[in-house]
Amino acid sequence: MHSFHYQDGSLHCEGVDLQSLADQHGTPLYVYSQATILDHFRRLDSAMSELDHLICYATKANSNLAVLNLLAKEGAGFDIVSGGELQRVERAGGDPGKCTFAGVGKTRAEIELALRKGIYCFNAESEAEVAFIDQVAGELGVKAPVALRVNPNVDAHTHKYISTGKSENKFGIDFETIREAYARAAALPNVTVRGLQMHIGSQLTSSGPFIEAVEKVAPLVAHLKETYGIEFFSIGGGIGIVYQDSLASGNTGWWDAKEDAEKPLTIEEYAARLVPLLKPLGLRILLEPGRYMVGNAGVMLTRVLYEKKGSVKTFKIVDAGMNDLIRPALYQGHHDIAPLREPGADGATEMVDVVGPVCESGDFFAQNREIPATAEGDCLALLSSGAYGFVMASNYNSRALPAEILVDGEKAHVIRKRQTFEDLIAGEEIPG
Ligand code: LLP
Repeated sequence: MHSFHYQDGSLHCEGVDLQSLADQHGTPLYVYSQATILDHFRRLDSAMSELDHLICYATKANSNLAVLNLLAKEGAGFDIVSGGELQRVERAGGDPGKCTFAGVGKTRAEIELALRKGIYCFNAESEAEVAFIDQVAGELGVKAPVALRVNPNVDAHTHKYISTGKSENKFGIDFETIREAYARAAALPNVTVRGLQMHIGSQLTSSGPFIEAVEKVAPLVAHLKETYGIEFFSIGGGIGIVYQDSLASGNTGWWDAKEDAEKPLTIEEYAARLVPLLKPLGLRILLEPGRYMVGNAGVMLTRVLYEKKGSVKTFKIVDAGMNDLIRPALYQGHHDIAPLREPGADGATEMVDVVGPVCESGDFFAQNREIPATAEGDCLALLSSGAYGFVMASNYNSRALPAEILVDGEKAHVIRKRQTFEDLIAGEEIPG
């Protein structure tokens, strides 16, 4: 579900009119729905209820303290990839004892911090890393809980930049050699082998690759349980969301006219296919969803600054750029664009490029897209921007980072203030 819908002629997030937020807080502006985030967490949690399981939300997808706090209060664990994320989780009230630490390049400082905080497990991605974790744990006089990440060499059928489970990717340890890697890890004095992890990619839109990977890895899981007594198997994240025609059906006008709506991978289908494969393993199952939890829970609002009619195209120049939302530029990611004022059922549409102010040709949100006619000053929402949106924003072109708002029913909380120029240059110095 998600909580964005037209009401009384304007787009709302839960009970809040997005135009009023844009007017009050300015644009670009990220807005998240608390109800959607909670609904997604609870649905996945209940779909997995037959299993001993822990949802470790992939912090990288949206790491605002308020979002982490919401999930911490639901009892979520967290999948982290840096010392910074670990500190965020703790600051937000999350339990380090429910954190798994992934990533191919953990530093000494990060490993020490994680050991001191007592994280649940390191998900190690190479034998060199395991040896280093063993060394650092030995120096601190503690035992480090470790899982190895297996690369099952399964095609996730997703964009190549977010595919991680093929042998040519930098992630994990090869399926063919992982048994020996476990034998060597188990022999290390300061390491406890606690689990097995995998993650084959992000934005998977069917359950097929998940099934293929679990089926391939199941005999390995059984072997590791028997030999080393591992207690968990993490199946990673990757559950895809709907990016096209994602506004709830039931809206009037041009949305309903679309026929080629994306078919979502529902949580119910994901669970129905995976639970029967996972249950017989008799282990605790960890899940690391990021996008599923927050993707459809967020939008980015932007205002049309100018219209420019070229000889072959009409450009709508908006006040958000690729520095605010990089997914279209980096992954050819599609985000639906909805006007905040509801277009009439027979309203005019126009074929346009929606582009930002950044000095790069890749700075666009849509090319040759038919959207309802807009005028200068109108506001648009880029839908499904809650995951990998704000977290990937940068200060490129010395543009200040947008503000973030969390909506809860009729209330709108500013959960991150818009950056000021002084914030932007903080830490810089002119020598002399
Ligand atoms: N676990 C591991 C080890 C991961 O590397 C990732 C994502 C996740 C879990 C969460 O995956 P999710 O459930 O969100 O698909 N910036 C890209 C996505 C990068 C994903 C990186 N790893 C995008 O905007 O599409």
